Amino acid sequence: MRQIPVHVAIIMDGNGRWAQAKGLPRVAGHKEGISSVRRVVKIAADTGVKYLTLYSFSTENWKRPSEEVEFLFSLMETTLIKEMKELHDNNIKVRFIGRIRALPDKLQKIIEDTEELTANNTGLNLTFAVNYGGRQEIIDAVKKSISLGYSVDKLDEVSFREFLYCPELPDVDLMIRTAGEQRLSNFLIWQSIYAEFYFTETLWPDFSETDFKKAINEFTKRKRRFGGL
Ligand code: FPP
Repeated sequence: MRQIPVHVAIIMDGNGRWAQAKGLPRVAGHKEGISSVRRVVKIAADTGVKYLTLYSFSTENWKRPSEEVEFLFSLMETTLIKEMKELHDNNIKVRFIGRIRALPDKLQKIIEDTEELTANNTGLNLTFAVNYGGRQEIIDAVKKSISLGYSVDKLDEVSFREFLYCPELPDVDLMIRTAGEQRLSNFLIWQSIYAEFYFTETLWPDFSETDFKKAINEFTKRKRRFGGL
């Protein structure tokens, strides 16, 4: 039987371009991007993917105009308030990784509520990376290990993982990026060393069930050697 990926990570790109192409303000693209999030969560759960991680706001995204940043945070708030119960009813465990403490209080509170509500769910593990950077994650992990008095003799790849934002998050099997760009942009750098990459020209708001299935199908054809023969 063909192996489906355990952990799929997605760099959701192209919201702005989608909106601009339609003569709409950039934020309309983010709004439409939520429909794709909903679609992908459903199809990932149905396909039997165990972990889905979505790059929702990077530590570099603060460079955008403040109105766009504020819009994104408020869109996340309203989406979570609206969808929290349905996610829970579908047995989805929702988590957030990133420098959450730097987010607006209201968003932090909703993040906490969503994580708490869904904490004991056993279905799809859905992780939103918000104010997330891969290098920052590693720096934060080093800081945490030092503050906990971690002994340098014990330091190895397995024990270090315990200090990452979500130690349980396994290595990424399939990394998808939409909208034609072919780079990692500081996403999950610790977890992606042997990820298979799938790039598509499709803009995130247009990313369909068929696109997701195409990516999974492509993954099943890859030969993974993890450095071996
Ligand atoms: C990239 O498009 C998209 C983003 C920076 C934001 C994506 C966030 C969401 C869809 C919200 C996630 C929802 C929750 C509940 C956490 P872009 O603006 O970089 O597009 P462009 O490259 O065409 O300008």
